[in-house]
Amino acid sequence: MAYDIRTYGDPVLASKAAVVDNIDAKLVRLVDHMLQAMYRAPGLGLAAPQIGVQKQIFVYDVDEHPMALINPRIVESSGEWVYDEGCLSIPGLYVEILRPKEVHLEALDLEGNTITIEADELLARLFQHELDHLDGILMFDRMSEEQRKEGLIEYRKMSQESTSLGESRHIGLK
Ligand code: NI
Repeated sequence: MAYDIRTYGDPVLASKAAVVDNIDAKLVRLVDHMLQAMYRAPGLGLAAPQIGVQKQIFVYDVDEHPMALINPRIVESSGEWVYDEGCLSIPGLYVEILRPKEVHLEALDLEGNTITIEADELLARLFQHELDHLDGILMFDRMSEEQRKEGLIEYRKMSQESTSLGESRHIGLK
């Protein structure tokens, strides 16, 4: 069964995900579904709420190594970095957003081991973006007021012109 990726406006994307307290076969299957949906999109990362599951878990693959992180949290962050961020739940819209450049993340892996990852630039951005999904926060919440206004207009335009798949709009830092 294929899961659809939920898009902006779906209430599940604005809700907080629950802590995972049981790593079982069901969770392993969920991770499989998430990875399939992510690769199909295609995207570099996907959080469980994006397929309608309110659990604190996200998957990613930046170097052909699929990874799943459970109950992730950022324990330290530093620096600043502007990146043209996109989201599978807001397809086609790319917006320059300023966030910390480096993060130190702690999570559980699928075996239940605690792992820590030091990430910077793209991976650090991915972690922060996916963690936001687990808190019910979307890119629109990270934009300046001016960017949000323009972003919503552009996104609605693209949603209406559903024939122009693959089209994208970029909004610079404002
Ligand atoms: Ni996203």
